[in-house]
Amino acid sequence: MRIDIVSLLPELIRSPFEASIVKRAQTKGLAEVHLHDLREFGIGKHKQVDDYAFGGGAGMVMKPEPLFECIEGLTAQRTYDAVIYTSPDGKTFDQPMANRMSDYRNVLIVCGHYKGIDQRVRDTLITHEISIGDYVLSGGELAAAVIADALIRLIPGVLNDETSALTDSFQDNLLAPPVYTRPAEFRGLKVPEILTSGNTPAIEQWRADQALARTRDRRPDLLGE
Ligand code: ADE
Repeated sequence: MRIDIVSLLPELIRSPFEASIVKRAQTKGLAEVHLHDLREFGIGKHKQVDDYAFGGGAGMVMKPEPLFECIEGLTAQRTYDAVIYTSPDGKTFDQPMANRMSDYRNVLIVCGHYKGIDQRVRDTLITHEISIGDYVLSGGELAAAVIADALIRLIPGVLNDETSALTDSFQDNLLAPPVYTRPAEFRGLKVPEILTSGNTPAIEQWRADQALARTRDRRPDLLGE
């Protein structure tokens, strides 16, 4: 998978792609992330990228020309399976969405700033509008990093244990059960006995029960209850 991110602040999200699983995915050649500085496409000697909103009101709007030039430059080089705009008014990102997009070859993510981007860009170049939750960030960069991370870890071969993405929270619409590691007793706190019993079917049943109980307690909406 190749992910291109168009942003006014690319330095804000360089580090998430230079560490851990996402870095390893790139080293293994399973993913590529390219950051593009929209300012380079700004207009005039001040490299202007934003302007006042027609009709008045507070806040600046990202101008169409730099976005068109940058995005069309990229779409001329390859076909994108998704041209995503990150915005609080987009569709809320979730695991089924990540699963669907995880086999895309080329993904372009455009990060919004200020009051957002000119609607004509959204109408003509954007194919997916995604929010990462019902709160407002100061820009779309962190949302882009979240989306890229969620997609990259699902690419086959990225995680060491291929089954571990399958047992994540949400993969079966349930939260993940509690997990423990050694020591079996720490400061008087004991690991549930079943987990050290060696009885695999009983452990699986316990995990399923715990996942259901946790989901019922914390996220009954996932159960449709
Ligand atoms: N930009 C600002 N807030 C955002 C959000 N919640 N999701 C995606 N992009 C955003």
